[in-house]
Amino acid sequence: MVPEIDLAWRRGIRPEPPIPVSDWADRHRILPPTSAEPGRWRTERTPYLREVMDALSTSSPYERVVLMKGAQTGGSEAGLNWLGYIIQNAPGIAMLVMPSLDMVRRNTTVRIDPLIEATPALRELVASPRSRDAGNSLFRKSFPGGQLVMTGANSAVGLRSTPVRYLFLDEVDGYPGDADGEGDPVDLAIQRTATFQGRRKIYMVSTPTLKGHSRIEAAFEWSSPLKVVHQLGYICPAIWRISDGWETRKAGRDCIESSAG
Ligand SMILES: Nc1ncnc2c1ncn2[C@@H]1O[C@H](COP(=O)(O)OP(=O)(O)OP(=O)(O)O)[C@@H](O)[C@H]1O
Ligand SMILES: [Mg+2]
Repeated sequence: MVPEIDLAWRRGIRPEPPIPVSDWADRHRILPPTSAEPGRWRTERTPYLREVMDALSTSSPYERVVLMKGAQTGGSEAGLNWLGYIIQNAPGIAMLVMPSLDMVRRNTTVRIDPLIEATPALRELVASPRSRDAGNSLFRKSFPGGQLVMTGANSAVGLRSTPVRYLFLDEVDGYPGDADGEGDPVDLAIQRTATFQGRRKIYMVSTPTLKGHSRIEAAFEWSSPLKVVHQLGYICPAIWRISDGWETRKAGRDCIESSAG
């Protein structure tokens, strides 16, 4: 049997138990030799990321996670763990948006490929880089039941490419205000998730830049439960601010349903 089909079939009869993203990371994630601390991932090393990651699990009711954080506090790693969890436990279409296409190329080489290569559970699921069908490229990684599409906030074509269930918006304060004259890249990307309303997950993360001109700060300030409900119809906001390794959760964690659609 073709290996991918065999694998998909096995998955079908032996589904992974639903575990939170932090558990997935502790069990499966291996940090590559190029990482500052290679070897097994340990959530206890950065405990403030546990709730952030677990809000991204499909078993969590949160639909949007906004993380405003200090530099080098693990915001991107939390998202990489989430991507690994998606590939193995909850396959579907995921989109990772970086500030530019150039940064996507670099991020794939420096972070995404090592994530897959160093983690055996992922290596066996993602198409080989040598496969000719473009299932594994700088901009796309295919796996049974889904794919990870990676694009730049400067590319309207990339942002319009496909319906998306899982959206990872990294370093949003580096995004341009406008993607190819077609509007705000964050709005364009979020529009891709519309058909998955209620089941989608959106992870927006950045270190804030200039006060008053920061996307992540605006999302963070704006994401009071009432305003979010007004905008999205149904959402459970989960919002964290991380600086110097300490966590302050700002908004309430209540899940709110709205009849607004
Ligand atoms: N729990 C952990 N165990 C081991 N290493 C960790 C852990 N969390 C973060 N790191 C390491 O810390 C470094 C910074 O992580 P990451 O790049 O995710 O931070 P960031 O907040 O996205 O940084 P930036 O501000 O540059 O975007 C990386 O080398 C990462 O591997
Ligand atoms: Mg980062």
